[in-house]
Amino acid sequence: MTKASASGKVILFGEHAVVYGRPAIAAPVASLRAWATVTDARPGCGCSVEASDLGRQLLLADAPPDDPLALIVRLTLAELHVDPQPDWHIAVRSQIPIASGLGSGAAVSTAIVRAVAEHVQRPLASAIVARLVYETERLYHGTPSGIDNTVVAYERPMYFTVGREPQMISVGADLALVIANTGVASPTKIAVGDVRKAWQRDPATVNGTFDAIGEIVASARKAIADGDAESLGSLMNENQRLLESLGVSSPLLGRLCAAATEAGAFGAKLSGAGRGGCLVALITTEGVAPVMAALRSAGAVGVLETHIAADG
Ligand code: PMV
Repeated sequence: MTKASASGKVILFGEHAVVYGRPAIAAPVASLRAWATVTDARPGCGCSVEASDLGRQLLLADAPPDDPLALIVRLTLAELHVDPQPDWHIAVRSQIPIASGLGSGAAVSTAIVRAVAEHVQRPLASAIVARLVYETERLYHGTPSGIDNTVVAYERPMYFTVGREPQMISVGADLALVIANTGVASPTKIAVGDVRKAWQRDPATVNGTFDAIGEIVASARKAIADGDAESLGSLMNENQRLLESLGVSSPLLGRLCAAATEAGAFGAKLSGAGRGGCLVALITTEGVAPVMAALRSAGAVGVLETHIAADG
């Protein structure tokens, strides 16, 4: 039996603009995970995949080409040049809420790739894992930038630009984050589609917004390297204002961001596609409890603390 896992992720800066060639920064959320277990089955049983948290069970031989679970198993087997119909049972579990901007799809796929590769004792490089998982992201999102599969596959804070080598970023001091879930499921495809319509209607204004977000991302990379939480917080608030102007925030996300900053967070913004899903707030280690309490009383349905560890 071989077991492997993958983390969820949070986008810290640059969502949406990243689809249009600007950079973005994302980090893994190590405490939110998906797991895959590969077990040898009796000869002739074929390959079954069971994802009980998602209410899914399938036989690889019967699954349609656009089934994301079947696709990632097939792609991994092909990458490894092994039997395309092995006698295996693959069980998948995930504690990451779906359609919440926390990378649940990418984490499930990454856990499967890792478990399959380790089962045949041929672990794959992060760049290859990211490339395989990108194909399943396309089924969920249409035209994903690739940031989710990249940060989940590398499991490191990353600076990401479409079409360029992803870069691991330097982190000058530990950063404490609180992630709050609005409880409103928001399909990425819809928010991304609406931003595209806005961009087509008024390219000059929306390109200007994307450029301003790109500049925030560049400043944020430096502030993360310097361990400058105060500047990072202000950059998060500015990024949130620009996301609001793109129409991807919501009254609840706005209220939760305000509640976090009023309770002492350095800054807060939505994370991921927006409209619902999650927000991320940057806080001091001592400030975690009041910010979590404020977010709960302002209507968050789930709140968790996570950290980005300083280098070394
Ligand atoms: O909601 P998520 O985590 O899938 O994030 C989407 C991020 C976007 O920038 C809105 C889309 C993308 O493909 O990068």
